[in-house]
Amino acid sequence: MSHGNPLDLRAWLDDMQAREELQVVQGANWELELGAISELNVRRDGNKALLFDDIRGYPRGFRVLTCTTSSPFRLASLLRAPLTRDHNELVRWLRGKPKEWESRARDFGFVSVKDGPVFEHVDRDGAVDVLKFPSPLWHEGDGGRYIGTGCAVVTKDYDSDWINVGTYRVMVHDSTHVGLDMVSGKHGHIQFQKHAAAGKPFPVCIVIGAHPLCYLISGIEVPYGMCEFNYIGAILNEPVEVVHGELTGLPFPAAAEIVLEGWIYPGDERLEGPFGEFHGYYQAGAKSAPVVTVERVYYRSHPIIVGSPPAKPPNDYSYSKAVMRSALLFDALVAAGVPGVESVWAHEIGGARMFTVASIKQRYAGHARQCGHVLSQCGVGAYMGRYSVVVDDDIDPSNLSEVMWAVATRTDPARDIDIIQNAMGSKNDPMSIAYTSKAMFSSRAIIDACRPFDHLQDFPPVAQVSARLQDEVRAKWRDVLAL
Ligand SMILES: Cc1cc2nc3c(=O)[nH]c(=O)nc-3n(C[C@H](O)[C@H](O)[C@H](O)COP(=O)(O)O)c2cc1C
Repeated sequence: MSHGNPLDLRAWLDDMQAREELQVVQGANWELELGAISELNVRRDGNKALLFDDIRGYPRGFRVLTCTTSSPFRLASLLRAPLTRDHNELVRWLRGKPKEWESRARDFGFVSVKDGPVFEHVDRDGAVDVLKFPSPLWHEGDGGRYIGTGCAVVTKDYDSDWINVGTYRVMVHDSTHVGLDMVSGKHGHIQFQKHAAAGKPFPVCIVIGAHPLCYLISGIEVPYGMCEFNYIGAILNEPVEVVHGELTGLPFPAAAEIVLEGWIYPGDERLEGPFGEFHGYYQAGAKSAPVVTVERVYYRSHPIIVGSPPAKPPNDYSYSKAVMRSALLFDALVAAGVPGVESVWAHEIGGARMFTVASIKQRYAGHARQCGHVLSQCGVGAYMGRYSVVVDDDIDPSNLSEVMWAVATRTDPARDIDIIQNAMGSKNDPMSIAYTSKAMFSSRAIIDACRPFDHLQDFPPVAQVSARLQDEVRAKWRDVLAL
């Protein structure tokens, strides 16, 4: 057992259980049930993380954990933020933090230790059997069982010492082979291509289960050349303790749950997918993808796969993406000189990209359009955007019903929707099928759903119970109005 390792998943689970943020589920089937239960769970208010045990056909103790980041409370605890159940509060706390973590990462280089819980079991050569773990078949349309969704894939550059850690999905082919889907341009893919060009095997360690802070950070865009373990060190305020794979020498957290170590041999590819994407569609069918030949498996007793399956939002990780991207968009608006920004929310329904909303306290004519265009086109917002909405500060951007009420009642479409043509599209956009040019262009709508600036004084007043009367009535009529 590790003592006091901040990346020990077991300690975090104990804490979450004590705070009623974790539910143990016994006896579910790896074939579709884990996926379906998790998907229905994240749609519930007050959902809990789910720890599946006694999975059909597997020994007790071989477990799968899902929904780790899908509540403000759990996300706050992972990020070492003040514990809150209010996501706007979490976004406010997060503002500026990614920049700060990035700049401090170099002071928190990971440190090597001799041993760790992950080495409790080591399977070598003929004993390697990836099928011993209960990899879920998450959704009905999937092309196979995915052992890696909430995972962290550790790789190394070909011509430098840069270690990258990225979340790329991992499909089980057979007992010693898994497929790795690294989209072109991702850091792991760049390192892979360099090895492939040199005709060299590509060393890989896949962390299948770890403290969810690992996949939370390996699943976001940390700058090129930076190691995600150092970034995690900056969040924890102490370096990440790693051990090294005996074949590749690659580092991974000493308290990891399960690690697959192996190589992608030149030219070794098999069909991978289809698999649902973050926006809720099967964007591509099965396609050829690199295969990792697994030669070592390291794991703790009673190992835990950390799963985070994408699906139609809200899905397992759409909430964490919404929070992280909302904070980054808020920072980008302020950095671009947009004043009076009250709140920002990158909605889960748009995969935290395609439907973003900012609220402002209007200060001058043109303020709302300025905010909307920057929201749509700033660095964090440009990729795969679609609708950017600006609302007044009486509207909560994270409340879709309030936002759409403002859109329905405070816009004149001919005047209040600006269209940007030829913006940055993507082949991952479900609408790319209908793009009108070969290049990846798509359009954007900026919806100015603020009251017209020249009618702030005489715009019809809102017809609803005042905040003061609400408080009084709620206090007096508690038995009628309590949930
Ligand atoms: C749960 C989850 C699954 C993901 N699956 C993939 C994937 O299969 N392929 C991929 O290229 N990116 C995937 N991503 C996005 C990448 O993890 C993300 O772009 C990350 O920045 C990649 O790391 P890199 O910047 O070091 O390349 C996934 C993200 C999450 C959170």
